[in-house]
Amino acid sequence: MRDVGVGMLGAGFIGEFHALGMRYVPGARVVAHCDMDATRRAAFAARFDSRPYASVAEVCADPDVDLVVVSLPNHLHREAVLAAAAAGKAVACTKPLGRTADEASDMLRAVTDAGVFHAYLENIVFNPDMIRMREMIEAGAIGRVTTFRAREGHSGPHASHFWDAELAGGGALLDMASHGIECARYLFGKDLAARDAFAWGDTLVHGAKTTGEDNAIMVVRFEDGRAATCDVSWSSKGGLEGRFEVYGDAGRMVEDLAVGSLKAFIERPAGYLVEKADAETGWVFPVPDEVRVHGHDLMMADVVSAFRDGREPRETFRDGYVVNAILDAAYRSIRSGHWEAIVPDDTPRAAAS
Ligand SMILES: NC(=O)c1ccc[n+]([C@@H]2O[C@H](COP(=O)([O-])OP(=O)(O)OC[C@H]3O[C@@H](n4cnc5c(N)ncnc54)[C@H](O)[C@@H]3O)[C@@H](O)[C@H]2O)c1
Repeated sequence: MRDVGVGMLGAGFIGEFHALGMRYVPGARVVAHCDMDATRRAAFAARFDSRPYASVAEVCADPDVDLVVVSLPNHLHREAVLAAAAAGKAVACTKPLGRTADEASDMLRAVTDAGVFHAYLENIVFNPDMIRMREMIEAGAIGRVTTFRAREGHSGPHASHFWDAELAGGGALLDMASHGIECARYLFGKDLAARDAFAWGDTLVHGAKTTGEDNAIMVVRFEDGRAATCDVSWSSKGGLEGRFEVYGDAGRMVEDLAVGSLKAFIERPAGYLVEKADAETGWVFPVPDEVRVHGHDLMMADVVSAFRDGREPRETFRDGYVVNAILDAAYRSIRSGHWEAIVPDDTPRAAAS
């Protein structure tokens, strides 16, 4: 059997992580990619020995591409997925799947109608600590899970498309709580439906740069009354925060993604240290092999092996759709000041066009 040919759409920050996430996956290779930025396009081609194109359409038309990986800004996810599905390609898309549940619904409908493989690229639920927490829950280690809490923060995104709230579909809540809420679903068990959401969000620091919320807190209540909290920030100084805590009636578990064993005091910069590091000198906390630590290795291994074996991957577009439906309710709650119902996720609502 020939290698699975991957077509990468977008050669920016996450496109590189996705490509690196496949470096130890046997039988998979990035064969083509596109980026509208010529410099990035050429750099990615040199680094990954991949065929460079300028457009999504060209990657989707390449006969060597079996699996299209969408690593583009949020506002381009829907269009890219529809193009891949129309070309009959398997497709994987980064978070958030859509800017809204309606967009995600269009995407789910497109892949379902085309009968193509689909995977939602949510890496945090594949990081080794998160997988271990789930195994320990399954072993009964903390008893019945009661609540979950995520704190995710950094001092602000690196690219302008995130700061345009109209274009991106939201601010810090959409960008970051998309991770936390999928972790909650993974740890509680995805059979447990999310019932309603209550949220606050405001632009506390970056009003000159964005109309989107740069800080937000969301509480999601599940159908049986248990709850998850996601507390996110784009104005948190000192580097990337990623803490995920799960509480049960017989224990608790805490993952801190930002804490590795390595710390260094340096007076001169050493180059790239870790995503969203705020400091290049002084006390720094480099994360060697960040791609693995953040879950991209196991995520890509699952996606490629699922595609090859003809099974569903662990995370599908349906999961991405549910995440969007939860976030939509949270945004409604920010506006209304009340708990807002989460629209049931049994039928995708809109037809793709
Ligand atoms: N899983 C994660 O932890 C994670 C982390 C960061 C970003 N993301 C997601 O990845 C997506 C992209 O974010 P990013 O940080 O990589 O952004 P980025 O700006 O670093 O990269 C996006 C790339 O897309 C290219 N591009 C834009 N429009 C294009 C077009 N029409 N055709 C071809 N190329 C085009 C840009 O030139 C850029 O190189 C977002 O949806 C974001 O939410 C996920």
